[in-house]
Amino acid sequence: MAKAIEIKRFSYKYPDGTIALSDINLSIEEKQKVVLIGPNGAGKSTLMLAMAGFAKGEGEIIVNGLKVEKKNLKKIRTVIGCCFENPDDQLFMPTLFDDVAFGPLNMGFNTEQVKIRVAQALRTVGMEAMAEKAPHHLSAGQKRAAAIATVLSMSPDIIALDEPDGSLDPRNREKLVALLKNLPQTLIIATCNMNFAAAIGDRAVLVDKGRIIADGEAKEIMFDTKLMAEYGLEMPAMVNDTSEL
Ligand SMILES: Nc1ncnc2c1ncn2[C@@H]1O[C@H](COP(=O)(O)OP(=O)(O)O)[C@@H](O)[C@H]1O
Ligand SMILES: [Mg+2]
Repeated sequence: MAKAIEIKRFSYKYPDGTIALSDINLSIEEKQKVVLIGPNGAGKSTLMLAMAGFAKGEGEIIVNGLKVEKKNLKKIRTVIGCCFENPDDQLFMPTLFDDVAFGPLNMGFNTEQVKIRVAQALRTVGMEAMAEKAPHHLSAGQKRAAAIATVLSMSPDIIALDEPDGSLDPRNREKLVALLKNLPQTLIIATCNMNFAAAIGDRAVLVDKGRIIADGEAKEIMFDTKLMAEYGLEMPAMVNDTSEL
């Protein structure tokens, strides 16, 4: 299997001295659905930022064979599409159409190609009827879907989502699970909701205090009572039961 992401001995310290990641080694294969789990402050968001080249630390990160470094960043950000914790950070244009078109326009696609990409991305997230709406008028669930569409329109090989389940009601969370499960891409999802994580992940990587504590088959990790309790995480209810999401 080809590697989507390869992280070797990566450490990152914020300018104020906080050590957010220490000696991370992680290798993610193409098409894998990986959930990054861990309590608040564990380092999940920082790890995602680092993968997309927003947190330059020590060690090495390779995305689809490209080293994360300045000269490769433009390309890397078309290969890995990231949705940050707050969808408002991603929606800044007058209409939803413009937001979803932003990426493909920057990639140099012509107007016709951009229209096709936007229509496809909006259809995938079920928002095709809202293309002309102002993103700041969307509901929380719609904003999440819209932010995902801004990434899908670039057709990245890897999609990284930071707590995409945040502020979603159960029905929208269920819809999001269905959407994410059907995406063909490599998925990396940070969350502290174990029901959500269990519904999507094949593989779980437990992070705490900037280190990888456990890495393995999602169900094995999340149903390890001792491990979950030790890191203040709840066990999922039932893997195939999304009613408890
Ligand atoms: N901009 C920042 N400046 C300083 N410290 C930060 C910053 N962002 C996050 N941190 C710290 O880095 C650590 C990891 O944070 P983060 O990656 O956001 O964790 P998580 O996403 O798992 O909640 C925490 O100790 C947090 O306080
Ligand atoms: Mg976070």
